[in-house]
Amino acid sequence: MAPGCKVAVIGSAGNVGASVVFSLVNTTYPADIMMVDVNQRLVRGQAMDLADAAWPTGHRVRTANLKEAGQADLIIITAGARQQPGELRDGLLDRNYEILHSILSGLKPVNPNAVVLMISNPVDVLTGIAQNITGLPKSQVFGSGTLLDSGRLRNYLAKLINVRQTSIHCHVLGEHGDSQFVGWSSARIGGVKLDQFPEMQTIDKAKIEHDIARTAYDIIEAKGATYYGVGVCGAILATSVLQNQHDIRSVCCHSTKWGGYVSTPAVICSRGIDRVLELDLDNEETEKMEHAVERIKGQTKRFVE
Ligand code: 2OP
Repeated sequence: MAPGCKVAVIGSAGNVGASVVFSLVNTTYPADIMMVDVNQRLVRGQAMDLADAAWPTGHRVRTANLKEAGQADLIIITAGARQQPGELRDGLLDRNYEILHSILSGLKPVNPNAVVLMISNPVDVLTGIAQNITGLPKSQVFGSGTLLDSGRLRNYLAKLINVRQTSIHCHVLGEHGDSQFVGWSSARIGGVKLDQFPEMQTIDKAKIEHDIARTAYDIIEAKGATYYGVGVCGAILATSVLQNQHDIRSVCCHSTKWGGYVSTPAVICSRGIDRVLELDLDNEETEKMEHAVERIKGQTKRFVE
């Protein structure tokens, strides 16, 4: 089958970008994948290696420059400074703003129909900044947000309740960062409220929330970086866009209800965000959501008029 849509992955010589491409080439909808990085020697090697991994599924993998990437149907941004052990994602903001600004300048003129998927951290802040700089409609710019955290939570609950992760509907909300929280009140398994499962009676929800939010720190402490988990999230979201799948995922998107970019479930289609879902939050969750939105807005304001 001939490769179809054009997907550009910016920063793909690095672990996160290369993991997104590796996950993507293992999906069945063949795309024309352009790998872009300032480290041209390394990205050439990564592209050759990943092209070798792509033959069973028919993806095309090659290197490209930023100008060409600007014309892609889907532009995935993974470039950025790496979080050091113990460092908050917020600590990356100034460095990663500079990197993002230079990437977006290099992409110009950006395809007006492109969907931009932000993965670099702090992802919720950088997503709003990317929308502002590109001038693309808000629905066309979204971030991986709390999809990975929601996956981590599902792993935990799957083990606890002994059901498969994909049968659990429970979202981590707010920020892909320290103010994230779990939308417990809307959590369901097979339509049954999560709290009705006997296993939930003995657990400490605050501890689970804390442990989920700490996962990245623990991985970074042990191996220096996280990349496979977010790589799979990038490929899942790319597939939702490329195949117009209308999947519901917790992502960083612009919410009219909350008045800014925040991580919340949304329907993903070929135009980016088809619609943002408004969960019925309880009072405590509403306060946490407001806190997360304010945090994200406060940081974004430093870079956006
Ligand atoms: C993660 O949560 C570091 O944001 C990255 O794995």
